[in-house]
Amino acid sequence: MSPSAVDFGAVPWPVRTRRTSLRPVRPDDREAVHAHRGLDEVATYLSRGPLDLDEVAERIASDLARARPGHPEPLLGLVIEVDGAVVGDAMVRLEPDGPDGWAAFLGYTIHPGLAGSGLATEVAEALVRLCFAYLDVAVVKADVFVPHRASQRVLEKAGLRRVAEKPAGSDGDGHPRMDDYVYAVTAAEWAASAPGDGGRSPG
Ligand SMILES: CC(C)(COP(=O)(O)OP(=O)(O)OC[C@H]1O[C@@H](n2cnc3c(N)ncnc32)[C@H](O)[C@@H]1OP(=O)(O)O)[C@@H](O)C(=O)NCCC(=O)NCCS
Repeated sequence: MSPSAVDFGAVPWPVRTRRTSLRPVRPDDREAVHAHRGLDEVATYLSRGPLDLDEVAERIASDLARARPGHPEPLLGLVIEVDGAVVGDAMVRLEPDGPDGWAAFLGYTIHPGLAGSGLATEVAEALVRLCFAYLDVAVVKADVFVPHRASQRVLEKAGLRRVAEKPAGSDGDGHPRMDDYVYAVTAAEWAASAPGDGGRSPG
């Protein structure tokens, strides 16, 4: 049995961070997304290789279908904009977490021309906040290949911690080629993690 349906419509778009703006992906983002998703270096630690333009279009169509209310495999596909230009993409994929709740799995990609300046960390922090504030998930998780230290740092800075290791090819749709670390933060851990005495407010 699945938990009650997720409503991505509850999220007020765009979601802004200090330098970025996040919004749901659209079909006309195809070229802009391909500009980074088509690069070999971007795919090194992703479970799929570089995407051609048609594959990007298929992925956007699938994301849009999965974002509709009641879809059995809910997923929110987003683009990351800086100064109005698409510089990356992100996703929140939901899986049942027991009979009553959802676990959210995060993904993010930044164009290599802008890597190393903290943008992915801003985005990951915003995605965690979005998941707990608007999607009411029980836990936020991410799978990261073991050698991918940069993404592990992003998750650690966003408040997740390493909770498990999965051998390559053990499960998942992505047919991983390397061992994975699982990172996670629960709603209670996240609420308690803000500096000071007051904890985090969800908005
Ligand atoms: C991984 C990725 C998202 C990082 O984006 P970014 O905007 O450069 O990330 P940030 O600048 O917020 O943080 C990167 C952190 O990794 C660290 N880092 C970068 N390269 C590293 C390396 N080779 N080894 C160890 N740490 C590294 C940085 O120093 C920084 O940590 P710090 O703040 O403690 O110094 C980006 O490179 C990317 O999109 N890669 C391709 C897609 C991808 O792999 N997505 C993640 C799938 S799990």
